[in-house]
Amino acid sequence: MSYKDKIIKEKLPKHIAIIMDGNGRWARKHGQDRIFGHHQGVDAVRDIAEASAELGIKYLTLYAFSTENWNRPKFEVDALMNLFVETITKELDTLNKNNISLNAIGDLDSLPEENYLRLKETIDATASNDRMTLTLAMSYSSHWEIINAVRKILSAKNDQQLKAEDITEDLFSKYLTTAYMPDPELLIRTSGEMRISNFLLWQIAYAELYFTPKLWPEFTPEDLYHAIVNYQSRERRFGLTSEQIKS
Ligand code: FPP
Repeated sequence: MSYKDKIIKEKLPKHIAIIMDGNGRWARKHGQDRIFGHHQGVDAVRDIAEASAELGIKYLTLYAFSTENWNRPKFEVDALMNLFVETITKELDTLNKNNISLNAIGDLDSLPEENYLRLKETIDATASNDRMTLTLAMSYSSHWEIINAVRKILSAKNDQQLKAEDITEDLFSKYLTTAYMPDPELLIRTSGEMRISNFLLWQIAYAELYFTPKLWPEFTPEDLYHAIVNYQSRERRFGLTSEQIKS
């Protein structure tokens, strides 16, 4: 029996975020170079995006490239950037056919121009799709995002006397790059590492964390269903007691 049959439709997370990790180790395990691992990773992205949309997940956010990843060897950074452009271009029809809109968060100005333009074209071309929003975190880190939000608040309010009490959780959230979606209820990380690696630090305040030893290219829709079933078995208390939740 598939874990899919155990998923309670009424308790689906609206937003799942994934730290896709382990492409390099998967490649080594198969006697290939790291770039081959990233190519295999794209297949997993496709399968997981389709499975998520089919289940009724409204937002899927994938950590594709962190601000720290710029420090990898140049050939790997270049290969990843090419892979992103290639994939985004190739998948446009499938995104439209599946009614999925593409979005991106991160320091997008730091992307090579070709990447930025292709990304923007695909985002615009899929903007009216409303089954699911697939967000790629590209040149993203939470530290960058939080500093960026503070700067944006200061410049937006430059002409007003900004008072300390004007800074609220609600206002701050509106200046994050994720302002258009609810916070993720479930964060998955593959490859056995138990770190958050500067991803959505503000937004995962109450997310359930799910770590799996599977390397990203090995992560299948069945693994996703398992993660969701596991999430649904947990009691989410948001700081309350178990008794309060039950009543
Ligand atoms: C982490 O594995 C993965 C990345 C830094 C890149 C993720 C990119 C993909 C899965 C391709 C996705 C493409 C699109 C269009 C979203 P790693 O290289 O850190 O693996 P390792 O820890 O085993 O070395």
